[in-house]
Amino acid sequence: MTSSILLTGGTGTLGRLVTPLLLDAGCTVRLLSRRVREPVDGIEYVSGDLIKGEGIEPAVDGAEIVVNLAGGPKGDDEAARNLVRAASRVGVRHLVHISVIGADRVPLGYLRAQLGAEQAVADSGLPWTTLRAAQFHDSVLKMVQAMAKLPVMPVPGGLRFQPVDARDVAARMVELTLGEPAGLVPDLAGPKVYGMEELARGYLRALGKRRLMMTVRMPGKAGRSYRAGENLTVKGATVGKRTWEDFLSERLHQRTDPVAAGDQRPNRSATKR
Ligand SMILES: NC(=O)c1ccc[n+]([C@@H]2O[C@H](COP(=O)([O-])OP(=O)(O)OC[C@H]3O[C@@H](n4cnc5c(N)ncnc54)[C@H](OP(=O)(O)O)[C@@H]3O)[C@@H](O)[C@H]2O)c1
Repeated sequence: MTSSILLTGGTGTLGRLVTPLLLDAGCTVRLLSRRVREPVDGIEYVSGDLIKGEGIEPAVDGAEIVVNLAGGPKGDDEAARNLVRAASRVGVRHLVHISVIGADRVPLGYLRAQLGAEQAVADSGLPWTTLRAAQFHDSVLKMVQAMAKLPVMPVPGGLRFQPVDARDVAARMVELTLGEPAGLVPDLAGPKVYGMEELARGYLRALGKRRLMMTVRMPGKAGRSYRAGENLTVKGATVGKRTWEDFLSERLHQRTDPVAAGDQRPNRSATKR
């Protein structure tokens, strides 16, 4: 079945992987981006800003399905509310949303905004599906790369993560998008739980580097919540296929990979590796 889809966040880490899968499934894809972009590879772009509430009406116009993968450090709740309002006006038949595991448990501003966005979707009156995913490998990589810039790596003690590959999340998002609205579906996490130090060591090992590490304590309620594992999924989650080690060996050693090389455009070949 072909569907007309508005995708927000289609230029991001996840969205760049979702876009070609939707095109391959025969969907018509329109991307909302804050930047003005020329149509490419059958993708239409509409410029707009979800937080400022700009360009959303023309973006949703004619869309049967809205997939919300946009995200930033702040304001994802406000962004979702603006999107939902516009989507409700045109009456889309499926609103699909990505969130983060722990949004309902970890007391961190970013995650509270994720919960606010989830609520906007659930209260929209539209048929909806929301998937909570664990941290993407890409995000963990950025974190350990930043830590490794220092001569002694500061490693938050007691924190655990179950990172998931963005390609596994993309495949699941497309499956959910093309399926029936399902509400809040089981979380999607990676195949293994790692301590922060283990993730950092895996990164250094993959690069053949060594660093001194110093355990630091993440302060406050959020630190306690992370140490209690509230960012981890509860039983019954779906588990992605690719491990942190798989991701590192591909990302750090395949320099011809357009994603590894930092190409930010949606790329149909990026998912076919
Ligand atoms: N990264 C993770 O570890 C992780 C884990 C679980 C869930 N998630 C969720 O997955 C989603 C995508 O994450 P990602 O890592 O792919 O993000 P990303 O790479 O940082 O990309 C962010 C995307 O959001 C768009 N965007 C940001 N602010 C916007 C605004 N005000 N209006 C319209 N578009 C805006 C950007 O588009 P332009 O720059 O083209 O405007 C870009 O396409 C987010 O909702 C995030 O909360 C992420």
